[in-house]
Amino acid sequence: MIHQPPVHFLGKTLTGQPVQKQVRKLKDLDNIFLDQAAFSAADMNRVVYEVFSYLPVDEGTEGGLFFGMTHLYPGTVGQEFYMTKGHFHTIENRAEYYWCVEGEGMLLMMDKHRNTWAEQMQPGSLHYIDGYTAHRVANTGGGILSFGACWPSDAGHDYATIVKNGFSRRLLSVEGKPALV
Ligand code: PA5
Ligand code: NI
Repeated sequence: MIHQPPVHFLGKTLTGQPVQKQVRKLKDLDNIFLDQAAFSAADMNRVVYEVFSYLPVDEGTEGGLFFGMTHLYPGTVGQEFYMTKGHFHTIENRAEYYWCVEGEGMLLMMDKHRNTWAEQMQPGSLHYIDGYTAHRVANTGGGILSFGACWPSDAGHDYATIVKNGFSRRLLSVEGKPALV
């Protein structure tokens, strides 16, 4: 039998069923940004990013894969660029791919020893995120940053560790340019 795949990936858009949409607003990013005064003064309903995911198997299935597209809007909170919450995987050894489709950004990664480094994201850049490595993306450009992701369906997201301890370095906008400090 020949089947049409249920979901199509056109440019930076996932179409078809079932695609799950998740919206993250500033109010969902409490304790992520350094400048708490700037954060508190901002509009909490501002959308920072949207994630469209294709989850063909149940969350937690061993051996399966998930696929997602994140659209991260441009903006800053204090000296920091809009960024994703960032996470380790709950099953810590699970790896992931990110790839940039549109815009400019930085992928921050941090290992279990809290060594933090960054890779530049631009259309076409492909990023392998090894296991045991926290990952977060910042939009350093003036337009939307869109990137794809593919990760194991049993990886899970551990956000709590990052909310509690953060990354060991922060990406700041210094004279308009990204600096890892
Ligand atoms: O699975 C991933 O790593 C991505 O799809 C992210 O979940 C997505 O980019 C949003 O980031 P976060 O989950 O850190 O909020
Ligand atoms: Ni991940």
